[in-house]
Amino acid sequence: MAIVINEQNKTFTVSTKNSTYQMKVNCAGVLLHTYYGKKLGGEMDMSYSIKRDMVEDIPKYEAIKGDGQYSLVEVLPQELSCFGCGDYRDTALNLRHSDGSLGLQPIFHSVRTEKGKYNIPSLPAFYGDEGETLIVTLKDRVYDIFVHLYYGVFEETDVILRSMRIENKTDKPVTLEKALSLTLDFNYSEFDLITFYGRWASERDVQRVPVEHGSVQGFSTRGASGHIINPSCILCEREANEEYGNAYGFAFVYSGSFLISASKNYNNNARIVIGINPENFSFELSPNDIFCTPEVAMTFSSCGFSKISHNFHKAIRNNLCRGQYKTARRPVLINNWEGTYFDFNADKLVSMAKDASELGVEMLVLDDGWFGKRNDDHTSLGDWYANENKLGCSLSELAERINETGMKFGIWFEPECISEDSDLYRAHPDYAFKMPGRKPTLYRQQLVLDMSRKEVRDNIFMQLCNILDNANISYIKWDFNRSITDLYSCELPKDKQGEIFHRYILGLYELLDRITSKYPNILFESCSSGGGRFDLGMHYYMPQAWVSDNTDPIDRLRIQGGTSFIYPVSRMGAHVSASPNHITGRITPLETRGLVAYFGTYGLELDINKMSSVEKEEIRRQIKEFKRFYELIQYGDYYRLISPYNANSLYCSWMVVKESEALLAVVKKQNRAKAADEVVRLKGLKHNAYYSINGEGKYLGEALMSLGLPIWTDNGDYTSKLYYIKQII
Ligand code: GLA
Repeated sequence: MAIVINEQNKTFTVSTKNSTYQMKVNCAGVLLHTYYGKKLGGEMDMSYSIKRDMVEDIPKYEAIKGDGQYSLVEVLPQELSCFGCGDYRDTALNLRHSDGSLGLQPIFHSVRTEKGKYNIPSLPAFYGDEGETLIVTLKDRVYDIFVHLYYGVFEETDVILRSMRIENKTDKPVTLEKALSLTLDFNYSEFDLITFYGRWASERDVQRVPVEHGSVQGFSTRGASGHIINPSCILCEREANEEYGNAYGFAFVYSGSFLISASKNYNNNARIVIGINPENFSFELSPNDIFCTPEVAMTFSSCGFSKISHNFHKAIRNNLCRGQYKTARRPVLINNWEGTYFDFNADKLVSMAKDASELGVEMLVLDDGWFGKRNDDHTSLGDWYANENKLGCSLSELAERINETGMKFGIWFEPECISEDSDLYRAHPDYAFKMPGRKPTLYRQQLVLDMSRKEVRDNIFMQLCNILDNANISYIKWDFNRSITDLYSCELPKDKQGEIFHRYILGLYELLDRITSKYPNILFESCSSGGGRFDLGMHYYMPQAWVSDNTDPIDRLRIQGGTSFIYPVSRMGAHVSASPNHITGRITPLETRGLVAYFGTYGLELDINKMSSVEKEEIRRQIKEFKRFYELIQYGDYYRLISPYNANSLYCSWMVVKESEALLAVVKKQNRAKAADEVVRLKGLKHNAYYSINGEGKYLGEALMSLGLPIWTDNGDYTSKLYYIKQII
């Protein structure tokens, strides 16, 4: 039983394989948070751990029972923090009543459980019959405003999902000014917050900062999760590392603006809140309306970050990813973007397909530039019909010609954006976000469509269907190359303009739902100027996402390494590109470009017609090797061994382990004269088993993990090596 409701203590305890989460209704009906951490062996009311002064701070603690006067004095650990009744820390819920007053005092109302993991209407969410759901309902002390706290529990992977529903049962409208998804309080505060920050072509670098008095935040206000900070984080004890210490992982299942805020109060308690960014957010609830927050996935590990990654990777693969490509092997693809940019026609693409097909590539993806009059990034977004003059044939003919080479055919779209120079814009200038009286802000010469409007979504949906119904298309790259500005929707009244950001995301999800349901056999890859919308909301619809426009394998050590803390390898779009790299100018061995792309979806992003026969043979070898290790790489447990940030090592190293097999990757970040060999301690092997390495020797698992394995690569910068480790006894 993952959920225990103790009527006597009024505690609600959620257990997973290795963690326990508990809350308790106190004497005044307030839902306290009492524990989240290592699994408790027995059943216990954990409210004993609330510090004495926190309880005594509250005037007339016992006397207040039932009289409605109850100050939270900003110290008690709470399951849901609301503004207005004495909690001055970061709150999760700010609600304005129709008379203008701001505040909510939620008191326990009822509790129930449900079989299976809950769904959230209109929002992506983890799913699974093996999960369980706890629903705790609170009600405002005065008004008929209900808050239903939802907890989804996956015992095996130690993942708990949290979201809430706010229900207005009064006869007047109320307005949410803040509706975050999670409050989590701790009775101690010696924490670090790890976030994943970056910019275009340098996504998800790792930043670790102490949580001190005040708050540490990561956020997006751009209407998309963005490149700058990923909507995920790890809160850990100060001494925690990959294999040691208490750590809490969080990942927001949402693709819009978000807020992560970790703080410490004067009583040395820590709190983290996560949810939709309250900046530029408000949402009106009419009588009987319900607002659902997106969910936050969280997991606890008492043994460092590796376990956080394993838990998330498994849960994301099993309980978020959907469709046939959840389990089916994804085709090895070649994308023409870095190979040709806008300069191609059908003959060129077919010639690339022919060469690629001979080497074992399975699909050609036609990137930007095939539609409208698009030969650069100034025009035609919104005009989703093929440029037959440029191609030299129709799209269906092109697809047929590609198919004849033995390859599938995929295509790029940027459905949420529009060029001013497009037929769609000329016909419907109001479809783009624009503020009255102002010229809209261009970015990459384009504007954003108002996806909160059904009419706009319908138009794009029809155009996409028209393409997909008339050509044999097996894959879509769904791009989004700018953030949202000029936030004004001509369909919403002035007091509802604060709803646009969230309505945009709801609209996007509705469109994605329609298109992915109608075309279940198409493989979708999400993209946003590289890895600018690399979040779990998009992952619900699209099993893979382009990690970064930066395909330089040495930069990718940081980018994919940072991404791996939360997201599984199976999600990471990774391609071999030409050298020197188009973005960094760095020259790297083809072997290393291949090895780094193995730990992702592996594909090509270059003009294969320009490769020498030696290079082509190397690609043939890589595809064979990648396919051989596919299951191990995609479904194995991922361990970061030598961090790309480690200035004391020449190497970056990581490994995957699945049952009796493991694969160790070693990449030299830079060469040095007479560099000594290094030793890397392996992880995840069986202590008493014996292993061979690249088919040779007999090594005790324990020895490889405690003494380690000497590693080296060929002389030269950026060389790399793959070690295949197989249990023999
Ligand atoms: C974005 C993507 C690239 C490519 C271009 C095309 O930048 O990240 O991979 O598709 O758009 O314009």
